[in-house]
Amino acid sequence: MIGSGSISGRVALRRRLHPWPVRIMHWVNAAAMVIMIGSGWGIYNDSVIFHGLEFPKGIVLGSWAAQSLLWHFAGMWLLVVNGAAYLIYGFATGRFRERLLPIRVADVLQTVRDTLRLKIAHNDITIYNGVQKILYIVVILAGVAQVVTGLSMWKPVQFSGLVSLLGGFQSARLLHFTGMSIIVGFLVVHVLLAVLVPSTLWAMVTGGPKLDPSREAGR
Ligand code: HEM
Repeated sequence: MIGSGSISGRVALRRRLHPWPVRIMHWVNAAAMVIMIGSGWGIYNDSVIFHGLEFPKGIVLGSWAAQSLLWHFAGMWLLVVNGAAYLIYGFATGRFRERLLPIRVADVLQTVRDTLRLKIAHNDITIYNGVQKILYIVVILAGVAQVVTGLSMWKPVQFSGLVSLLGGFQSARLLHFTGMSIIVGFLVVHVLLAVLVPSTLWAMVTGGPKLDPSREAGR
């Protein structure tokens, strides 16, 4: 009896690489980001920051600025609610600590060397390499920063202190644009890698391999 109890305990510990809440939140976030980016480009086109830089009509969401703004505000709730759930889940379950830490300099350098030699084989998809960890942390922080700078522009009177902290309305706008550029840059690399290593993409759909608790403990 005691033996079978410990076996069931071990079985319960064999979680999948991406438990279902992570998969749902990841794909909801992807949809929310597409809405936020596409509609953000539509709003930007109405009053450009950089003369000569306008986003082609075919890739913006919304036929005119007011419509893009409606999309942006609708997507905002999806992004904030889903993003908050992901952050709470990541901290509460220890997933962030487990998956994104520690970051070892030697590992980062090795990944950079391998990538420069076009060696991107991802033999063990249960472990994120150093560069992956950094990119995920950067994009999570960029997402949070987008919400903060967006909030300051949405309610500049109520959040006037935040607007001043960000250096004024125009500066908040520039920071919001910079955050978008970081997220789009991440997405280009992220989607390319997911396509080049399809086992990772499949794992984000099905949950991926079950984790070995003994290896998890030693990581
Ligand atoms: C169509 C778009 C996307 C595809 C195809 C995609 C694909 C993937 C895949 C395959 C993984 C697992 C990587 C691995 O196991 O090595 C992953 C993880 C991740 N993706 Fe995406 N992704 C997309 C959109 C996004 C967006 C928009 C963001 C954020 C802006 C994002 C942020 C992340 C993060 C933070 C992780 C790590 C999640 C965790 O382990 O908790 N992804 N994505």
